Amino acid sequence: MKHLLTMADLTKKEIKEVFSLAKKLKKENKKNVVHKLLAGKSLGMIFAKSSTRTRVSFETGIYQLGGQGIFLSSNDIQLGRGESINDTAKVLSRYLDGIMIRTFAHTDVEELAEHGSIPIINGLTDSYHPCQALTDLFTIYEYKGQLSNLKMVYIGDGNNVAHSLLLATTKIGMDISIATPNDYRPDLEILHVAERWARESGSQVEVVTDPLQAAQGADILYTDVWASMGDEMEKEEREEAFKDYQVNAEVMNVAQDDAIFLHCLPAHRGEEVTADVIDGEQSVVFEQAENRMHVQKAIMVKLMK
Ligand code: CP
Ligand code: NVA
Repeated sequence: MKHLLTMADLTKKEIKEVFSLAKKLKKENKKNVVHKLLAGKSLGMIFAKSSTRTRVSFETGIYQLGGQGIFLSSNDIQLGRGESINDTAKVLSRYLDGIMIRTFAHTDVEELAEHGSIPIINGLTDSYHPCQALTDLFTIYEYKGQLSNLKMVYIGDGNNVAHSLLLATTKIGMDISIATPNDYRPDLEILHVAERWARESGSQVEVVTDPLQAAQGADILYTDVWASMGDEMEKEEREEAFKDYQVNAEVMNVAQDDAIFLHCLPAHRGEEVTADVIDGEQSVVFEQAENRMHVQKAIMVKLMK
């Protein structure tokens, strides 16, 4: 693994290695074990979009490993005033040991990786959110003790989070069913990759329009916001399009009795999920949020050590 731009950058074996390191780091973190695995290393963190979890989990994560994180709002660096990604990549590679970037176009992240000489970590683009999907699998493993023979059901927008979940589940061998309105289906090219990976790993992938049909027998229920960062202008039409795509008690009732509920957060109670579900017994969303830090620490060690 040289970069983490999408789930294509990791093999199944590397995913398992990341998880076993994350598990160890999590356990040691609870015992206040101090690490120097990335002593003296610097991670640049470029943000062109807002963030709570990604920013804080990466910054505390690198600090706990003995290194430092440098927050770079794209508005404050010359990138926001038109300096090219190419030049930015070359310059930052002279100072830093790795870059985490959250931005709009996925091609910008690819360009950064192409022209820089240090590892690049995708902290979310319009198309993918691989750190989230890896954390989600890790969290599922903690609760279910397995990753295959499970059915994940994602209800809502066929967005960046849905794309990375499609790739993560099919790579690892988990079944995934996505329920989304026809106009908001996942990107066809990404879906085709997921279908190929599903054939290779022996898992099932389907995209349907009926949330209750999808949710039958689910082991994991997952949803995300109806309007992602960048979709603000479409808020009203999306509220109309997604009004039947909510994880609520009716949906939870057709899932397995021991199903868990996941959400990448931030959540909008009363829209994609009801308060009784996200604040209920089956929800593991805050453990999931915590795990971002442990999993990303493992990713940084793998890429930057
Ligand atoms: N889930 C997630 O990436 O959250 P933030 O937008 O707060 O980073
Ligand atoms: N799909 C959401 C995820 C936020 C973590 C967005 O892109 O805004």
